[in-house]
Amino acid sequence: MSFLFGATVLFAANFRAIGLVVFAVILIGFIALFVRNVFEAKAELGSEVELAANRLEYLSDEELETTKLDRSLTFALVILTICAVVLPFYWLGEPGRQEGAIETLDATFVRRGEALYTGGAQCVNCHGGGGVGGVAAYVYQDADGQFLGNAAWNAPALNNVLHRYSDEEVSYVLNFGRPGSPMAAWGTPGGGPLTSQQVEYLIYYLRTLQVQNLDPIEIAAAGTDDPLDAESVLALEAADELIEDIRAEVDRSLEDGEFGSIGEAVFNLGLYSGYRAGSLSCARCHTSGWSLGPSMVPNLLDDGIAACGGGDPSGIGFSLCGGIKERFPDDTWKHPSGRWLDESLSEGVEFVYAMDSTEIPLDEKGNAITDRTDADGNPVPYTIVENGDLADCLYYSELWEPGEIAANAYPFDGRVPLVLAEEDQVEGVTGVFVDPPRIEPAALQAEFDGETITLEDRRVGAGCTLIEMPPRTSNAHYNFIFNGANQGEGYGRGGQSGAGMMPGFGGLLPPDLLQAVIDYEREEIEQR
Ligand code: HEC
Ligand code: HEC
Repeated sequence: MSFLFGATVLFAANFRAIGLVVFAVILIGFIALFVRNVFEAKAELGSEVELAANRLEYLSDEELETTKLDRSLTFALVILTICAVVLPFYWLGEPGRQEGAIETLDATFVRRGEALYTGGAQCVNCHGGGGVGGVAAYVYQDADGQFLGNAAWNAPALNNVLHRYSDEEVSYVLNFGRPGSPMAAWGTPGGGPLTSQQVEYLIYYLRTLQVQNLDPIEIAAAGTDDPLDAESVLALEAADELIEDIRAEVDRSLEDGEFGSIGEAVFNLGLYSGYRAGSLSCARCHTSGWSLGPSMVPNLLDDGIAACGGGDPSGIGFSLCGGIKERFPDDTWKHPSGRWLDESLSEGVEFVYAMDSTEIPLDEKGNAITDRTDADGNPVPYTIVENGDLADCLYYSELWEPGEIAANAYPFDGRVPLVLAEEDQVEGVTGVFVDPPRIEPAALQAEFDGETITLEDRRVGAGCTLIEMPPRTSNAHYNFIFNGANQGEGYGRGGQSGAGMMPGFGGLLPPDLLQAVIDYEREEIEQR
C-alpha cells in the first residue's frame, strides 16, 4: 500500500526520476554482485574431486537445490516485479515527455527563425518588427531602364500571412521570391542563401506572429448550444475587433473620398493610408505599380489600369480585366444581408431569398416556384427576367414570330380574356376578346412594363407580378476569393493556378466585404 502511495507521489513528481532510480538500483546491484564475485572466489567446476588446500568447498548439491535456488529465484522475481511495475509507469509518462521534447524543439526553431528574421536574412528591414509590414526601397525605372525615381514598395504585413497562405505557399515565396519585386529568392531552390531547414525556421517564427483570424466566427456561426470555452470567447472578441478595425478603415477611406464604393475600397485597402502595408488589398497583385503608391503612379485607379495587371512594375501583376464572368458564371442570388446560398448547401436547398427577404421556394431542380400549381397539379415556375428578378405571370402566349404577331400571340393560352381595350369596356360586359396592340420586334428586349412581359423564347406573359431578387452573382467566385488558389489546381471555369499565389481571404475579411469586392469585380472591372 505504502509502496503504491509512494509511487503515486513519485509518479506525479517525475517519471524520469523513477526511471533513473530504478536504473541506479540495478546498476548498484550489478556492481555489488560483480565486486562480490571478484572478491569471493568460487569453486571451479570439477574442483570438488580434489580440492586444493586454498580453495573453499562449494555448496553441496542439497544446498544448491534448496536455499541457493530459492534465493536466486526470489531475487529474479523481485527484479522482474520492479521491471513490470516501473516500466508501464515510465511509458505512461512517455507522451508527456515527447510533448516536452517537441516544445523544446519548437522553441529552438522559433528562436532560430527569429534570429534569421531580425538578423541573418534581414526580413525585418522590409517587413517590419513583428511582421507588421513596411516598405522596401525600390528604384523605379521605365521599360527602357530610364530612372524614374526612388520609390518605396509596400512590403506586406506578415503577421497575417499564414491566414492567407498555407505553409507550403509561404515556403514557395521564400524560396523563389517575387520576381519583378524587391522580394528576393531566399531559398536555395531559387538560388538564395537559406537552406530548406532555415526556411522552415522562418515559418515557425512567422507562426508566432500571426494576429487573430476570423475562424472563430465560423465556430459561432455553427451555432452549437454548448457554451464557448474561455479561449474561444477571447478569440471571438479578437476577431470582432479585427473586423471593426477593417470596417473603420474602409469607412474612413470612403468618407475621405478616396474610393467610390465599398468594393473599390476593399480592393485597394491601404492604397493611401498604408493600412496593414497593403496586405489585405487585392490591387497590390492585380494592378501594376500599386505597391509603389499613388505618389509614384498617380493613375492607379483609372479605368484600364486598376485591376488590369501586367506591365512593370508588377510583383504578380495578374490581370482581372475582362472575362471574370466567363470564369465564374452567375450561379446564385445574393442574400441582401450578404449571406449566401452556400455551395455546400445548394443540394437540397429549399428556397432562396428575395430582396425583401421573403423566401422563394425551389423545386428539386433548383427552379424558383410559386406556391400555386397548374391544372395538372405541377408547381408553377417563376419566370426569370433578364436582370435576375422573378416574374409570376398568370398567362403566357404561344410562341410567335416577330412580324406576324398578334394573331398567333393572343389570346393567351386560348383560355382567358386578356387585354380589354379601353373603348371596349362596357359596363356589365366582361370577357370580350380583342386584339391587343401589335408588339414590335424591338419589344423583345423590353423590360417588364408592369403588366406584360416578353420572354426570350418569344412568348408573352400577362397579369404578371414581379419579385425583386438581389443581383445574381457567383458562388464559385466567392468560394475562390474565400479559399484562394492552390498550386497546379484548377478553379472556376478553366482556371489553372500557377504557383498558388492567389491568397485566401476568408480568414481575414468578413463576408459582406468579400461580397462587396466581388460585386466590384463583376460589375466594374468586368467592363474594362
Ligand atoms: C528588400 C526588402 C525585403 C526583404 C529583405 C524581404 N522581403 Fe519579403 N517581401 C518584400 C516585398 C516588397 C514583398 C511584396 C512583393 C509583391 O509586391 O509581390 C514581399 C513579399 C513577401 C511575402 C509574400 C507575402 C504576401 O502576402 O504576398 C513573404 C511571405 C515574405 N515577403 C517573407 C519574407 C521573409 C521571411 C523575409 C526574410 C527572409 C523577407 N520577406 C525579406 C520585401 C522584402
Ligand atoms: C499576393 C497576390 C494576390 C493578391 C493579394 C490577390 N490575388 Fe487574386 N490572383 C493572384 C494570382 C497569382 C492569380 C492567378 C491564379 C493563381 O495563379 O493562383 C489570381 C487570380 C484571381 C482571380 C481569377 C482571375 C481569373 O480570371 O482567373 C480573381 C477573380 C482574383 N484573383 C481576385 C482577387 C481579389 C478579389 C483579391 C482581393 C480580395 C485578390 N485577388 C488578391 C494573386 C493575388
